[in-house]
Amino acid sequence: MRTSDDQGRAVSACSSIYEEGALREVTGVAIRPGGLTLTDRAIGACGFIPAAELLDVGCGAGATVEHLCSSYGFIARGVDISLKLIAEGLGRTPSLSLTEAAAESLPFAAESMDGILCECVLSLLEEPLAGVLEFQRVLRGGGYLILSDMYNREPADDSRNGAVPRRQLEAWLFECGFTPLFWEDHSRLLRELAARLILAHGTLDGWCCVTDKAGIRPGYYLLVARKNDTENH
Ligand SMILES: C[S@@+](CC[C@H](N)C(=O)[O-])C[C@H]1O[C@@H](n2cnc3c(N)ncnc32)[C@H](O)[C@@H]1O
Repeated sequence: MRTSDDQGRAVSACSSIYEEGALREVTGVAIRPGGLTLTDRAIGACGFIPAAELLDVGCGAGATVEHLCSSYGFIARGVDISLKLIAEGLGRTPSLSLTEAAAESLPFAAESMDGILCECVLSLLEEPLAGVLEFQRVLRGGGYLILSDMYNREPADDSRNGAVPRRQLEAWLFECGFTPLFWEDHSRLLRELAARLILAHGTLDGWCCVTDKAGIRPGYYLLVARKNDTENH
């Protein structure tokens, strides 16, 4: 859910749990199950050129942006709606390119990126389809979309936001002109993170608003899709 802060900026109702507190103490700077391991796995499946231009949407404190620049030599940028997390990332590494912006309205020209990453963010959007459409706009033809997130392993769920079933995610991708290249289930990483939280803090309370609705069998996925070339779409 999106609300506004006292200066009218968009904020996620869940933002504060990513900025500080129990979850951050357990995850560290990469605020998601699997950390950079899943990022590396996805990058290995994409055929990026050296110095490819990549955008991390919902970059949090910039862990992935920093890794993409320092370990791969990519030109990586990040956007997030949390000014606090952006300030944290810039405080750690001032040379990072981190900007305040929402996934549904990216401040980048059409067809300007070779790749977009969106790690543990899509399920937080009120209108995820608007986000996927925006990724399609900003990616070059043949560009790669890397998603990792919670999903609902209950296939009968017909929700249009939150942790949705795999078939809903794939339907959005087809609708927006993407071809999925691979899907992997990493639900074990979600269970491990939940176990670490319970061991450290004794509770999962307040962790994740995307699982608050009834009928959710939470899982975690890694997905790579490719934007169709215009002539194929
Ligand atoms: C689970 S954290 C993941 C952060 C980062 N991707 C990582 O893995 O370290 C979710 C992030 O999504 C951001 N977020 C939520 N809604 C957003 C939106 N509409 N546009 C951009 N970022 C958003 C939050 O501020 C938070 O940083």
